[in-house]
Amino acid sequence: MTVANSLASLGNNLTQRLHSLHQRALSVAPALSRVAFALYDNKTDLLKTYIHSTHQGHALTHYQFKLSDSPSLSKIAESAEPRLIENIQETLSNKATHSQWLLEQGYRSSYTVPLYNRGEFIGVLFFDADQCDVFDLQLQKELLLISNLIAMALALEFDAIRSITASTEVANEFIHLRDFETGAHLERMALYTQLIANQLAEKYQLTDEYIERVYRAAPLHDIGKIGIPDSILLKPGKLDQQEWQNMQSHVEKGEHIAERILHSLCLNDCINSKLIINVIGQHHEFLDGSGYPRQLSGDEISLEARMVTVADIFDALTSSRPYKHAWSLQDAFDELYRMVELGKIDINCVDALAAQQQQILSIIKQHQD
Ligand SMILES: [Fe+2]
Ligand SMILES: [Fe+2]
Repeated sequence: MTVANSLASLGNNLTQRLHSLHQRALSVAPALSRVAFALYDNKTDLLKTYIHSTHQGHALTHYQFKLSDSPSLSKIAESAEPRLIENIQETLSNKATHSQWLLEQGYRSSYTVPLYNRGEFIGVLFFDADQCDVFDLQLQKELLLISNLIAMALALEFDAIRSITASTEVANEFIHLRDFETGAHLERMALYTQLIANQLAEKYQLTDEYIERVYRAAPLHDIGKIGIPDSILLKPGKLDQQEWQNMQSHVEKGEHIAERILHSLCLNDCINSKLIINVIGQHHEFLDGSGYPRQLSGDEISLEARMVTVADIFDALTSSRPYKHAWSLQDAFDELYRMVELGKIDINCVDALAAQQQQILSIIKQHQD
């Protein structure tokens, strides 16, 4: 199976749903040229392009900005009220980059709806039309209905990750998971995964939706370690053969935990579930077949797992652990390229990360242990 195939088999669930909802709206409002949802991350205050269905104009993708930098969108998010603009040219100041962009795409009126999940702001849905005065009351009602359907689909997607994280966090607290696998490690490696994915977006035609899913699934890679005894996890010296086998079982334990939680939420068939299982189940596989637990090789290893593997190893090298100091970026990349040469990890993922050393430094600075 090629990388492209494995991506195709994951599909673009939400994107497809958005397209069909857009089609449905077009039958009532043929001028509706674009429906796009930007996802809000409350940890970083970033609003990121996520899914879109664009019939006219250039599709805006791989773009993000701080919500607090946009007074009009901040107001929409706070008020929970949709915003109607009947004539973009007359209403918006032409100096604002975003309104300039809207006009350049040929959009003349817009309807903007904030979305919430259990009261928490999750992002903004943009409806843009290529004529003025398109959004009459009847259409607004129809679009609010569509907005609700999209909010529900989004909630379902993110609940899968949230539930697995919440369940394992509770378990972690009980068993006092060893202290070096910190929250900061998980945040950094998820951000490195995101850097790699964004850099590879054009090469592999990755959508914002896919990149966001991988970013959110990445911190789950080692959840199976909650099933490994402290005497092995925290052992300062070398593990003997039996201990090493026990340690390696964290991968299958992790898959098992994730499957059970997904099953209890009736989410096993959700597209996101396959990606989560790939990340957990393949993050110790190597391209030459020397990894574990299944000795997968080459294209049998999903792209999401390859990216997570590189991000995880890179963070392990560049952070200090009880038995080692933190390596310099140079030394860490030398080691990653050595692994590339041995045929173990994906050169494209390593190149993608190596191209972004400024971003890496700021991630390290912001997320210290
Ligand atoms: Fe692991
Ligand atoms: Fe890790």
